[in-house]
This record gives sequence, structure tokens and C-alpha cells, in this order.
Amino acid sequence: MRCMSDDHTHVQEFFGARAAGWDRRFPDDDPAYAAAVAELGLREGGRVLDAGCGTGRALPALRAAVGPSGVVLGADLTPEMLREAARAGRDRDGTLLLTDVAALPLRSSSLDAVFAAGLIAHLPHPAEDLREIRRVVRPGGVLALFHPIGRAALAARQGRELTPDDLRAEPNLRALLAAAGWRMTSYVDEDTRFLALAVRDA
Ligand SMILES: C[S@@+](CC[C@H](N)C(=O)[O-])C[C@H]1O[C@@H](n2cnc3c(N)ncnc32)[C@H](O)[C@@H]1O
Repeated sequence: MRCMSDDHTHVQEFFGARAAGWDRRFPDDDPAYAAAVAELGLREGGRVLDAGCGTGRALPALRAAVGPSGVVLGADLTPEMLREAARAGRDRDGTLLLTDVAALPLRSSSLDAVFAAGLIAHLPHPAEDLREIRRVVRPGGVLALFHPIGRAALAARQGRELTPDDLRAEPNLRALLAAAGWRMTSYVDEDTRFLALAVRDA
């Protein structure tokens, strides 16, 4: 049986301890986030969620994409991350929600797209969680799984080997997304970025 509190505690402790210095660690990433957001194909008035938004680094680009009439939401499990987002003024670009992406307080099919940067590797039950994210996206809506560096560069930074069972290896991710009702439409894994795009099947 899934133990929500253990999952929550681990993530909240890990990211809670890192929240204050988060943006200073990665000062040059904004253009990469903006470029990835551009690939969601959002329009003026669109509705989008940043899942695992952290300090809200993607929120300005998401707001710029949907304009003042659009809806931008940022969801995260770690209160300290959301506090840093608000401190940086990113709550002006999107509404911040303290929530687990495993149980989103959102209506079914209410969004055009979900952007998720650096999230998927931290999900204890990725297939279930990707299915919950799918629930809130309309048929034909888009999911972007992004990271500002590629898998090999991230593994090197973290001092670990990249193994074939890596969740984000192309065949593994394609199968995982398919099992959760998403069709992967593109996959890029370069030193300077990781970006997988998927469309919600009808
Ligand atoms: C690597 S950080 C990335 C933060 C931000 N997206 C960025 O690119 O700077 C992962 C974030 O996901 C959040 N997170 C992890 N599991 C989550 C879950 N189940 N629900 C909501 N947020 C989660 C963490 O609290 C953390 O802020």
C-alpha cells in the first residue's frame, strides 16, 4: 500500500533544505526554461500547470505564453520552495498550490498543458502520478518533461552511473508515458537540455 506520508516527508526534507539557495545554484537557466515552454504551443488565454514548480522558475515564461487572460498554476509539495517562489515575486505570474501531484485539486480536463521540470525522477509512483496529471489535461493537451541539462550531464554532476533502467531513457519513458495514457511525440537528450513532449490521448 502506498504510504503518502513517507513519500511526502522525504521530498519535503530534501527540497526544504535546498530551497533557500535554489535559484542561486542555477542562475543561467532562464533562457532554457523559456525555450522549453515555447514548445508547449500555448496560446493567449491558455491554462497551464507547472507540476513540481519549486521556486517557480518557469512561471514567468508560462505567464508570458498565455498572457493576462490565461491561467497559470504552480504546484509543489515543499512549502519552503513555494515560499521562495513567493519571495521572488513569482506568485504574480501564477497561483501557487501546496499539493502532491498525485492528487491535484483540479477539475478533470481543465488544462491545456502541464510543464514539469526536474519532477519525474522524484515521484515514488511515476505511472500513477502521470495518470493523475493526465486526468487534469484535456484530450490533445500537452505534457513537457524538462530538465535544463541532459541525463548524462546530470548523472555526472550527481556522481552516478547512467544505467539502462534509467526512468528517462527513451524506451523506458515512452513505455511509462503510454501506460499512463500519454503518447510521446518528441524526445531530446543533449548535454544542454532534456525535453520529452507527450500528447494526452483521447
Ligand atoms: C528538482 S526540483 C525542480 C523544481 C523546479 N521545477 C525547477 O525546475 O527549478 C523538484 C521539485 O518537485 C517537487 N516535488 C517532488 N515530488 C512532488 C510531488 N509528488 N508533488 C508535487 N511536487 C513534488 C519538489 O518539492 C521540488 O520542488
